[in-house]
Amino acid sequence: MEEQEGTWLDRVLEWLDERTGLYGHTIRQAPRYAYRLDFWLGSFVLASFMFEVITGMLVALYYVPADPYASTSYLISNVPLGALLFSLHSWGAYAMVFLLLVHMTRNFLVGAYRKPREIMWVVGTVLAGLTLTEAYLGYSLPYNLISWTATTTGLNLFTYMPLGLSNLIAAMTLLPQLPGIASGVDPLVDRFFVFHWIVGALIALVLGLHLYIFEKHGITPPLSKEKGRSELIDDYQDKLRNDPNWKLQPLTRTFGIIVVTMLMTFGAIFLIASAFPFQIAVDGSTIKYIMPEYNPALAAQTPPIPDWYFLFIYFFYKSVTPSNASLIFLAWGAVTVLFPFVDEYVFRHESPNPVMRPASMALGVGFIVSFVVNSVWAYLTPGRDIGPIGIEVDGVIFLLSFLTIFPALRWLQSRAESGSDSFNLGKRLGLASALSRSQEVSTITLPRPVSLGVDLSILATLGLIAYTTAKMFTLTNLLLDQFELGILAGINMFLLSYLVLIYSLRGDEK
Ligand code: HEM
Repeated sequence: MEEQEGTWLDRVLEWLDERTGLYGHTIRQAPRYAYRLDFWLGSFVLASFMFEVITGMLVALYYVPADPYASTSYLISNVPLGALLFSLHSWGAYAMVFLLLVHMTRNFLVGAYRKPREIMWVVGTVLAGLTLTEAYLGYSLPYNLISWTATTTGLNLFTYMPLGLSNLIAAMTLLPQLPGIASGVDPLVDRFFVFHWIVGALIALVLGLHLYIFEKHGITPPLSKEKGRSELIDDYQDKLRNDPNWKLQPLTRTFGIIVVTMLMTFGAIFLIASAFPFQIAVDGSTIKYIMPEYNPALAAQTPPIPDWYFLFIYFFYKSVTPSNASLIFLAWGAVTVLFPFVDEYVFRHESPNPVMRPASMALGVGFIVSFVVNSVWAYLTPGRDIGPIGIEVDGVIFLLSFLTIFPALRWLQSRAESGSDSFNLGKRLGLASALSRSQEVSTITLPRPVSLGVDLSILATLGLIAYTTAKMFTLTNLLLDQFELGILAGINMFLLSYLVLIYSLRGDEK
C-alpha cells in the first residue's frame, strides 16, 4: 500500500491493522478519480438502509402487532415526535428503493457489472429482492384499508408462482387458527412483523458480503483512454504508480465522503418527511393518521393499489392470467440477476463502453422504459384489467429498443473504427477516446478549500448552524412543532455535510 500523509484516522486504523489486519486489507483506499458523488451512489443506499434501521427500531417501540392500526394512530397522534418518526420511516423506505434503482441503473450504464464484478451485481440483485420484500412487509404493517388490501391481493397473486414457490409462500403465510384470539386483526400481521425484522437482518448480512467483494475489487475505473476497456484488478498497480488521477487518497477522505453521503441522505429524508408528512393531516392542534382502518367489507369495494415500486409487477397480473404473469415476472427477474453473464457469454461484449455494448444497452433500455410505462399504466387503471394489450406494448418496447438502439450503436462503432471525422457523436459519447491510443493525462483537481481561519463560507455555515440550532431549542411543543423541528434538523444536516466535505478534502495536493 502506498505511503500517504497520515491523518489521525489513518493512525488509528494503522494501529488496528497491526492487530486485526483490517487497514489496507479489508478497507481499501479510494483513488483520486473516485471523488465524485456519482461514484458513491451505493453509499447513499447504505445510508438510507441505516436510517431505516434506526427509525424502524424507534417505531417498533410503539408498534403492537395485535392492534396494529390503533398503535400506529396512537404513535402519530399522541407520542411527542411520533408523527415525524412515522413519516421519516415511511419516506426513508421510499428513499431507499429509489436510491437503489438509481445505483443499479448507474452500474448498468457504466458497465460496473462486468468482469470481475459479476458477483457484485448478482449479490446486488439479491439485495434488491430483499429490499422490495422488506418494503412489502413494512407497507402491510399499519393495517390500513389500502395497505392491507394490497398486501392480501399481492399474496393471492403469488399463489400462482410456479416451481413450488407458491407452496413456500403458503407455508410461510398460512397460520393455524389458534383458539382464544379474537382481536379481529388478521394474525398474519404478527408474522409479517417478525419477517420485517428477519428480512432486515438478512439485508445487513448480504450487504456485508456486497461490501466485502467491493473492497476486494475497488470501484470500477472510468473508461480507459488506451484500451476501451476497464482495467482489471491486475492492471491497477502500474496506474497507481504513474497516473496522478489514480493516486490513493487517505482513508480520512473515504470516511469523510461516507459521512457526507449519510448527512445528505438523512437531511433530504428529514426535509421531505417534514414538508410532506406521510399520510398524516395536521389540523390546528390535532395530528391525525388519514388512512382508514382495514375492514373486510370496505376492502371488497376498494381497488387494490400497491406501492409505486410494485406497480410494474402488478401490471403483468392486470394484463394476462396470474400464472402467465408469474412466469413473466420470474423471467424478468432471472434476466436481471444473470445480466452480467448474458452480456459476457451471450452478447460477447468486450468493452464497458456503452457504444461497444449495443445488445446490452438495447435490452437495458427496454427494461427501463417498460418499467416506467408499466408503472404509470398500472397507476392510472386501479382495480381494472388491462388485457393482453399491456403485455403486447411491453413486447413492442423491447422490439423498438433493439431495432433502434442496436443498429445506431453498431453504426457509431463502425464510424469510430473507420476513423471518420464527419460525425462526431461517437466522440462525444466517449467512444473515440476509448478506441484511441492517446495517453494524455489531465489531473482531476479536488475542491481546495482555503484555511479555516479565513474561509468565509465556513464561517457563514457555522453561523447558520448556530442559528438553526438555537431556533430548534425554541420549539418546545414536541407534538405541534415536530415538523418544523424536522425541517431545521434537515437543514442542519446539509450544512454539516458541507463542513465535513471541506474538512475531509482539505490539503489536497496534485
Ligand atoms: C441494499 C442495497 C444496496 C446497497 C446498500 C449497496 C451498496 C453499495 C456500495 C456502498 C457500493 C460501493 C460503491 C458505491 O458507493 O457506489 C456498491 C457497489 C456496487 N453495487 Fe451495490 N448496493 C446495493 C444494491 C445493489 C444492487 C441492486 C446492485 C445491482 C443489481 C448493486 C450492484 C453494485 C455493483 C456492480 C457495485 C460496484 C460498483 C463499481 O464498481 O463501480 N448493488 N454497492
